[in-house]
Amino acid sequence: MAAACSGGDKIQTATVTTYLDKLQDCTIHMAPQLHKVAVIGAGVSGLLTARELQREGQQIVVYEKSNQIGGVWVYDPEVETDPLGLDPNRRIIHSSMYDSLRTNFPKQLMEFTDYSFTIEKNGKYLYFPDRKEVLKFLNDFARDFGLDHLIRFNTEVVSVEQKNGKWVLESKTSDVDQTNQKELFDAVVICNGHHTQPKLADTPGIKKWPGKQIHSHNYRVPEPYKDQVVVVIGHGPSGFDIAFDIAKVAKEVHVSSRFPQVEVRKLETYENIWQHSKIEYCHENGAVAFEDGALVAADIIIHCTGYKYDFPFLNTNGIVTVDDNRVGPLYKHVFPPRLAPTLSFVGIPKQTANFRVAELQAKWVARALSGKVTLPSREKMVADVEEHYRLMEETGVPKHHTHTFLSCNDTFIYLDWLAAQVRLPRTDEQLKRILDKLVELVRISRVGFRERLVESWPF
Ligand SMILES: Cc1cc2nc3c(=O)[nH]c(=O)nc-3n(C[C@H](O)[C@H](O)[C@H](O)COP(=O)(O)OP(=O)(O)OC[C@H]3O[C@@H](n4cnc5c(N)ncnc54)[C@H](O)[C@@H]3O)c2cc1C
Ligand SMILES: NC(=O)c1ccc[n+]([C@@H]2O[C@H](COP(=O)([O-])OP(=O)(O)OC[C@H]3O[C@@H](n4cnc5c(N)ncnc54)[C@H](OP(=O)(O)O)[C@@H]3O)[C@@H](O)[C@H]2O)c1
Repeated sequence: MAAACSGGDKIQTATVTTYLDKLQDCTIHMAPQLHKVAVIGAGVSGLLTARELQREGQQIVVYEKSNQIGGVWVYDPEVETDPLGLDPNRRIIHSSMYDSLRTNFPKQLMEFTDYSFTIEKNGKYLYFPDRKEVLKFLNDFARDFGLDHLIRFNTEVVSVEQKNGKWVLESKTSDVDQTNQKELFDAVVICNGHHTQPKLADTPGIKKWPGKQIHSHNYRVPEPYKDQVVVVIGHGPSGFDIAFDIAKVAKEVHVSSRFPQVEVRKLETYENIWQHSKIEYCHENGAVAFEDGALVAADIIIHCTGYKYDFPFLNTNGIVTVDDNRVGPLYKHVFPPRLAPTLSFVGIPKQTANFRVAELQAKWVARALSGKVTLPSREKMVADVEEHYRLMEETGVPKHHTHTFLSCNDTFIYLDWLAAQVRLPRTDEQLKRILDKLVELVRISRVGFRERLVESWPF
């Protein structure tokens, strides 16, 4: 039996080289272990996981509740009946995609280590693809790696629990018969995404505020906001993208941020967008008061306040919980120590190079399942998670940012760490320079950051 490697050690940037070199030596090769593995979801995380499991010779079933692959990237013009997503009985629409979306990463940060994105329009090279181009990229990927035949479309996983060492997975089809089926698996990889369940702002007075409210999950096109005064809560990518989109038709757009260092100002190049601090109070007469002293008679509030992790099908008897958007405990955001390696999560990290992270996580999971890589002992994994929580507390990072990569360096350290687990080279220096520059430009201003990045090319 192979010895466990010390992958649970905490790594610092300065020591990363020695650490990774040491780690190469302790990656253990074992006889391949074959399993029947369920993958939940056929978005980018599920597709990458299926490809890696296929490469390891596993028997795979990918469950996908919709009728196509792509997850977030499948645009659905329909919105949910409850615009804030509070009604638990509403019909849930998975994707929060809006019509005008262009990626916030250049294509170099959204392709895989061995599969590239080539996009040209009218002979011109495009750096930031639109939603249709990303969906095409994922469809091409699935076709080129022969993944389609592994996927059971229109089949939603409704229950997953472990019994007698096997995972019992219950699924329901969405055809007229709504057939329920139970099947046993040796392992389950959860790739169900985390941009569907709205997280709402608990702003004072908002419950009695008389105007219309929606969450960005239900935003699609700007037309309904014509001539309206709109307040957007949240300074993330959705907040600014939607503000820019709506400003084309709205009378005024006011973006509210709870970021303590927010610059209160009218945005350059826009006649009708203002950036404010936190909302102080939403009044019953429709006025919205900001902490910076501004008072606005608003028609609509759009909550661009992010999403909640949600695994409604998963029953682990409390071993894995979601608490204030912390999914835990998860070793390196992937494996619950008590259930590893047979239960894993791909695609949990936020504010990072999502596609690249999912690719390397998928490789790690697949190789851990086939026995080519061993995980540290359960105790070491738990200790690593606890150390992560302790560091967050010490540095004042709120719990809801457990899976947020707050700096480019966090992303690079994580990617290099994952790469070392699966014996791949660390992230290309050019990619690191691109991400660094992108983050620098976004910090200066979200207005025109894509164009400014392209102007800075080559890296
Ligand atoms: C508006 C928006 C824009 C974004 N733009 C970018 C960007 O520019 N660049 C970037 O890198 N990232 C972007 N992201 C982040 C994006 O979510 C990730 O990059 C990535 O696409 C997530 O993929 P995923 O496979 O983990 O999840 P998803 O894409 O959400 O896929 C999950 C899949 O699981 C299926 N599923 C869920 N539950 C079940 C169930 N119970 N049974 C069966 N199937 C189920 C869903 O139908 C879906 O197909 C954006 C996100 C949003 C919301
Ligand atoms: N063009 C694009 O490519 C594009 C567009 C949209 C979304 N996306 C992606 O989609 C994902 C989700 O983005 P998102 O912007 O929807 O969510 P997000 O990144 O989670 O951002 C949510 C924002 O809302 C703020 N917020 C949360 N609760 C709040 C409250 N109660 N009051 C005030 N502010 C509050 C957060 O502040 P704190 O930081 O303080 O919590 C944060 O600024 C990301 O991966 C993003 O990259 C990409």
